[in-house]
Amino acid sequence: MTLWEGRFSSGPSSELMAFTESISFDRALWHEDIRGSKAHVKGLVHSNIISEDEGRAILESLDAISREFEDDRFVFLESDEDIHSAIERRLTDLLGDVGAKLHTGRSRNDQIATDMRMFSKRVIIDVGTKALALCDTLLEIASSAKESYLPGYTHTQRAQPILLSHHLLAHGWALSRDLDRLLATFRRLDVSPLGAGALGGSTLPLDPDFVAVELGFSSRFSNSVDAVSDRDFVAELLFDIALLGVHLSRMGEEFVLWSTEEFGFVRLDDAYSTGSSLLPHKKNADIAELARGKTGRLIGNLVSLLTTLKGLPLSYNRDLQEDKEGLFDSVRQVSLALGAVRGMIATASFDFGRMKTFADSEFLVAVDLAEYLVKNGVPFRKAHSLVGGLVRDSIERRVPLYELVSAHPLLGSEASTLLAPSGAIRRRITPGGSGMDAVAVQLEEFSTLLALQKKTFSELR
Ligand code: ARG
Repeated sequence: MTLWEGRFSSGPSSELMAFTESISFDRALWHEDIRGSKAHVKGLVHSNIISEDEGRAILESLDAISREFEDDRFVFLESDEDIHSAIERRLTDLLGDVGAKLHTGRSRNDQIATDMRMFSKRVIIDVGTKALALCDTLLEIASSAKESYLPGYTHTQRAQPILLSHHLLAHGWALSRDLDRLLATFRRLDVSPLGAGALGGSTLPLDPDFVAVELGFSSRFSNSVDAVSDRDFVAELLFDIALLGVHLSRMGEEFVLWSTEEFGFVRLDDAYSTGSSLLPHKKNADIAELARGKTGRLIGNLVSLLTTLKGLPLSYNRDLQEDKEGLFDSVRQVSLALGAVRGMIATASFDFGRMKTFADSEFLVAVDLAEYLVKNGVPFRKAHSLVGGLVRDSIERRVPLYELVSAHPLLGSEASTLLAPSGAIRRRITPGGSGMDAVAVQLEEFSTLLALQKKTFSELR
């Protein structure tokens, strides 16, 4: 039996059902669907469209159905097209004609939009909480890294010594922007579409404000056509997740590099690395690689939905059903990635000595030598060229830079002290830079922001 049988002389073909069904994936929305139905029933009672007794009976049965889902006892039938029809069918099994009143004044169009918004709110809280935990881990390691430093890279070429704390927090700031974006998406999508009907509202005295409050939405739709057509929030959430994935991917890429023998900056814990089925000595950074690899599908899911939306006339079109699988997949994959990457980083051991050895390479203070000359009145472009020449000499003639600096009339022994290990970090004085003082301030700023974001997330519902 379908929800629309009255108008039809025959039932749906098996090909139609196989192609158009969504029950295989939208069953994930059972919780939201029942919550939405309960609010709708309360609204029907509130507006005197059904009696209190009828309302009570429907609510009790919806609770019973909810328990069936919780205990994995709910029995789906072949004919259940989607989660909405499955639940309504079960309700009518239990209550007969009273159950058949559930859908009064409602369409699956406003129903599914409501479910998806509730689902999105829930998963933003979940994903955000996991991202916050990763930020916590980065902050913890950054705080305990003290004066440890490593070569900072541009173009994957060693550039300047950078504090490890500074480097890790750079990833932390990116995540904090992801959290901000998730919060903004949450606030924008926190609008109830329930009461929009199929697209144009109803002749029944429904009260969309009442059900919006019932469901914990901050407001209700202003335009019923927009309410059933709009999937911007899914696209936004897919973007937020895709960008979060891009950040995890970049972190992953670094851990892949850092854990190679060539870099040797980090050793992954056995529980967070994998071995080879053939090569006995191998230890692979599969979490880091998959954090990188799975980001492809996160981006794909976003592009796929935008492509679905771009040609749609208003209002609801069945194409909109394609909003679900991508979102479910992105949410699941990014949640798994956040947990695995956090564990990998939290248990990794950093080889501070090796990082320092590479960062103490003489050439990484070349810019400090140029700035020394600047302080003595040499125009920067000239200073740059002079020091560049010394570096070239040092490489070509295989003479330590230290000797060339000491012997140079504009540099000499005073400037040669700039080449001493650890000096570069101590000399860095600009706000937001990689000097000890600036990083101490940054650690404070980051932990204050993190505490604020945690509080904001804990208050969402
Ligand atoms: N499975 C549908 C979806 O996800 C539910 C809404 C169906 N509405 C309709 N008019 N056929 O979009």
